[in-house]
Amino acid sequence: MKIFLDTASVAEIQQANEWIKLDGVTTNPTLILKEGKDYKKTLKEICSIVSGPVSAETVSLNAEGMVKEGREFAKIAKNIVVKVTMTPEGMKACRLLTKSGIRVNTTLVFSANQALLAAKAGSYLVSPFIGRLDDIGEKGTELIKEIRQIYDNYSFKSQILAASIRSPEHVKEVAMLGADIATMPFKVYEQLFNHKLTDAGIKKFLDDWGKLQKELKKRQN
Ligand code: E4P
Repeated sequence: MKIFLDTASVAEIQQANEWIKLDGVTTNPTLILKEGKDYKKTLKEICSIVSGPVSAETVSLNAEGMVKEGREFAKIAKNIVVKVTMTPEGMKACRLLTKSGIRVNTTLVFSANQALLAAKAGSYLVSPFIGRLDDIGEKGTELIKEIRQIYDNYSFKSQILAASIRSPEHVKEVAMLGADIATMPFKVYEQLFNHKLTDAGIKKFLDDWGKLQKELKKRQN
């Protein structure tokens, strides 16, 4: 499974990419608002760090506007993927952008039928939001399971990008269910490295190493 960072923070991307090479990045208007920076300049900077797909989200509600925005985003770098929303107009834009060679990430997907339509419209990436489904009392990871089965049944090429990930448990579950990609906040990515037994093990090894040094010194005297 590929790992994307869900952020518009260049510092977070640089740090994460030093630890394990990131496979891509997803951004959205909320994330860029958090950074308070120019969207296109930030995307350009992100694309200079990450060579995998970098998603840039359109904000128009009609296909014409989405296509116009998408074409502008696509000029930033070769690895830009244009995000359109899961609406009839979004799917129209998806078809038009895909036809002109621009890859599309269909976002705000909350049902298996929406994912089916997104695949039929030619989406390169399809983003089911699992955390937001959990928020309304549903089981978000069930959706990943359903979409995996549908895409496998009909050999759809669209990649399942599990989004709205809130915890390391989510990452493990979507990996086990066969999501192609998981996009996650820096905090969750960082947590993937942790285990209390790793910390305890490091502490024990360091303590014992210290004890050995003391012992050797004692023997020399
Ligand atoms: C990614 O493409 C999505 O925009 C993102 O994962 C949404 O996450 P949220 O539900 O935590 O805002």
